[in-house]
Amino acid sequence: MTDLTQLQLQAEAELGAAQDDAALETWRIKYLGRKGLVPAAVAKIAVLPPQERAAYGQAVNQLKQTVQNAFIDRQQALHDASLAAELAAEGIDVTLPGRRPQVGRMHPISRTLRDIYASFGRMGFQIYTARDVETDEYNFQLLNFPKGHPAREMQDTFHTTVEDVLLRTHTSPGQIRAMRDYHPEPIRVILPGKCHRYEQVTARSEMMFYQVEGLAVGRAITFADLKGTLQAFADEMFGQGRKLRFRCSHFPFTEPSAEVDIDCIICGGGGCRVCKYTGWLEILGCGMVHPTVLRNGGYDPDLYTGYAFGMGPERITMLRHAIDDIRYFYSNDIRFLEQFA
Ligand code: PHE
Repeated sequence: MTDLTQLQLQAEAELGAAQDDAALETWRIKYLGRKGLVPAAVAKIAVLPPQERAAYGQAVNQLKQTVQNAFIDRQQALHDASLAAELAAEGIDVTLPGRRPQVGRMHPISRTLRDIYASFGRMGFQIYTARDVETDEYNFQLLNFPKGHPAREMQDTFHTTVEDVLLRTHTSPGQIRAMRDYHPEPIRVILPGKCHRYEQVTARSEMMFYQVEGLAVGRAITFADLKGTLQAFADEMFGQGRKLRFRCSHFPFTEPSAEVDIDCIICGGGGCRVCKYTGWLEILGCGMVHPTVLRNGGYDPDLYTGYAFGMGPERITMLRHAIDDIRYFYSNDIRFLEQFA
């Protein structure tokens, strides 16, 4: 047996006995390290007589290759074995049901808002985004509520530290902003957004709520256009063939003004708790844009007319789902929110 064969057998036997990383490393240093036995065998080429070098060189290189490959194989085998041992010890039970991810859902108010947008979108209305923080001038004065006007009492709000800058109490100031933006073109927009009122929070009123305003301005717009538009909207939103009732009302920025009711979607008009046994549900306020407001928006009231309406998505959502307390919407109770698909 040559020295090289002897070396190879010894190396392979010791490698086979190495059972962990530390033993492997000790083996590697002994055989393949810089001062190891294999490099030493390679170095022997230099001291051989020239005629023996070729055969020896070939044999020693062969040995080096074989030993190196054996090392890599052993390393892999030990690694596989330890992984298998680890998996067996952990005992993964693949029949255990996984954890279901919590799937979020759309807030019921967002659902209603999107349905409103879609309905008016089909009738050619664009969404106009006005601002949540307004001036006294836009929120009140330009809409015919001068300072000290009694109609302001119904719309107390939150004031900022800057004089006459406040959180809007309704989306109607957006009418002026849209008119000043579009003038002198005709307008057909809805203006959705948050509003605030400084008042007692009860089952029927929140201090923050949404409104969706509608505004159409043009050359021959009439109350009939307003009625037709609202009828189409009510049919889409609450079911075909809805009955609408216009009741005389007052807003400083529309003339004439009306409040609109639909026949009760719960009882069909017969009378129930939701409609307070009247058979009717109020859904919005509306009217023809007041000439002064048209003028404030830049439109000549002798040439242009327009209509406007304003609705409360919270109220509409309460009617749709027979919810009896508005405070559920923003109190973040998951048990309430989970009920809406
Ligand atoms: N801004 C009114 C409110 O908040 C609603 C309204 C809008 C009425 C547009 C008429 C026209 O009560």
